[in-house]
Amino acid sequence: MLNIQDSHYITELCKGAELMSRYGWSERNAGNISVLLPEAEFETPREILRKFQLPFSPPELLGRVILVTGTGKYFRNIAQNPAENLGVLRVGKGELELLWGHENGGAPTSEISSHLRSHAARLRADPLHSVVCHTHPTALIAMSAVHDLSEREFSRTLWSSAGECLMFLPEGLGVLPWLPCGCDEIGLATAEKMKNYRLVIWANHGIFAAGKSLDDALGLIEIAEKAADIYLKIANFPDKRLITAAQLRQLAETCKITVKEGWLND
Ligand code: 13P
Ligand code: ZN
Repeated sequence: MLNIQDSHYITELCKGAELMSRYGWSERNAGNISVLLPEAEFETPREILRKFQLPFSPPELLGRVILVTGTGKYFRNIAQNPAENLGVLRVGKGELELLWGHENGGAPTSEISSHLRSHAARLRADPLHSVVCHTHPTALIAMSAVHDLSEREFSRTLWSSAGECLMFLPEGLGVLPWLPCGCDEIGLATAEKMKNYRLVIWANHGIFAAGKSLDDALGLIEIAEKAADIYLKIANFPDKRLITAAQLRQLAETCKITVKEGWLND
């Protein structure tokens, strides 16, 4: 059995955080990641180092152990000191029990409500779900400031800008209007969207992604961000050739993708 601190989950989280930072999505302390750990793989520490209060306790997560980034931590620095920048915590009733990390006074991300509530929602949709991550991808945020925020229209524009977006995100994206962050209200709203979507845009702020692994969640953001970047680059050209509704329907048929009724109509 491994010690938590030697696990590949920490190595992968450090790699992912560094990548998001290199993409320019993680200015200062922007972004947070949480991973549901399969406890069977670890020697879970017995001692509870500290406790953090939670305004809620998703019953699905009671007793589960999560790896999470610390609030205020810079993604570019996580790998240099995982024990200070990350924490491993057990979800209790109305509290999180710290088992490892958050050294020198650290605490879990301020977006813990969105993370825990999204985990609970995604586990109901996909038993293999394990990762939630939040970051600030520039093109998607810019697009959320100028584009219709209806989920159908937002998803359609991304699909029409890059075909792989339909292939990998056939359910489209959930979209929330701007809301104050770091509170339970945005956590509830995000989890409501996570019932049907793996990507949820927070207009004028960033994105939440869920996946079976960090690569999986990050890959979805990469695809949506690429499509948003292409859209913004071409949006103001008078003669543009986006992928048409008929072509999207053809792609869906070829790839045997099911899309929500009416979302590929002209
Ligand atoms: P934390 O540093 O608390 O994780 O917050 C970063 C962030 O992106 C808030 O939305
Ligand atoms: Zn943020």
